[in-house]
Amino acid sequence: MMLLAAMILAAGLMSAFHIVYAADPDPLQEFCIADLAAGPVSNGFPCKLPALATTEDFAYSGLAKPADPSRVSTGGVGTLAFVKEWPALNTQGLSLLRLDINPGGIISPHTHNLATEILYVLEGEMYTGFVTNNFGNDPTISNKLYAKVVKKGEAFIFPRGLLHFQLNKGKVLASSLNVLNSQNPGIQLMPSALFGSGIDREMLEKSFFMNATQVAALKNFFEE
Ligand SMILES: *[C@@H]1O[C@H](CO)[C@@H](O)[C@H](O)[C@H]1NC(C)=O
Repeated sequence: MMLLAAMILAAGLMSAFHIVYAADPDPLQEFCIADLAAGPVSNGFPCKLPALATTEDFAYSGLAKPADPSRVSTGGVGTLAFVKEWPALNTQGLSLLRLDINPGGIISPHTHNLATEILYVLEGEMYTGFVTNNFGNDPTISNKLYAKVVKKGEAFIFPRGLLHFQLNKGKVLASSLNVLNSQNPGIQLMPSALFGSGIDREMLEKSFFMNATQVAALKNFFEE
């Protein structure tokens, strides 16, 4: 009986670790430039014929210049170089993004459920960090914030799937180049996920101790 219980526990732990440490699968060929027109299949995109690949497929210039953060109400823009923008990432388990944030601007709290991320500050500085799980492996780090101002030339890592954010408390544009270990990291922005997705207002009122008017104002702002 004890042995059975131990085996079940071990199997459970192994599957838990398997999920925690899961990454994009290893490629089975040197490269697989995504054929985006074919649409995603069960795990990434089909490859275009290798003979049709060119040097330009492996180059990407979409992150060369800062975006204009004043075009969004948050004052912060993320420019993506995921597999849809850069098909050569298909099967390689990597992607990039660039953040450009005006003074006082933010990238709202968000998660990438499929990737760990490293941020490297190119210009300016950002207050950034992440929060651990409420119910993770270790109760001593429950719902714990790790955050600081990261300056030009410095880096910060956000563990896979955890909630994180950026705020430019500096006086000039802040920019970063971020590397993620998935071709398709997923992005879930908390404000719009909660207030822009049609969740019943009672759920939101009770979760955030807000009244109907306050919830309606936020739903109005985030719902399209
Ligand atoms: C909702 O809460 C706000 C802020 O506390 C308050 O000003 C407003 O009167 C409240 N509205 C209702 C309908 O209770």
